[in-house]
Amino acid sequence: AATNRYEAESATVSQGLVEANHTGFSGTGFVNGDNLAGSYTEWAVNVPSAGSATLVLRYANGVAVNRSADVSVNGTVVSAGRAFNGTGNWDTWATSTLTASLNAGSNRIRISATTDNGNPNLDYLDVVAADAPASDYQ
Ligand code: GCU
Repeated sequence: AATNRYEAESATVSQGLVEANHTGFSGTGFVNGDNLAGSYTEWAVNVPSAGSATLVLRYANGVAVNRSADVSVNGTVVSAGRAFNGTGNWDTWATSTLTASLNAGSNRIRISATTDNGNPNLDYLDVVAADAPASDYQ
């Protein structure tokens, strides 16, 4: 199975900023979403064929309070109020992994804050699609 990485700084952000003022991120930065319910980061993900994929979301949450968020795929919530617990500080990143069904071609994967604490800081989304070589991705 091939993994394709989608950096948060390349995603669509509603109510938030790309920043780089903490350490340990991949790429050129991360998304600091506004501390507001409904603020979101959305990735456009292309896979060559329909099927189950593993989604690995890398995040940091420097406070002790869980930053819960809805994870949706193509407008359907696949993980409601998913917990993104504290990682100790804003320089320490963790991953949260789930599986979801993706369509062949383009898919929209969105992480939308469910409380006014907002999302955790978001680093990237790795998409592991079953049995697809990386060269098949668009
Ligand atoms: C701090 C931190 C940010 C983070 C924010 C938050 O300001 O530096 O990176 O996004 O807290 O609470 O969301």
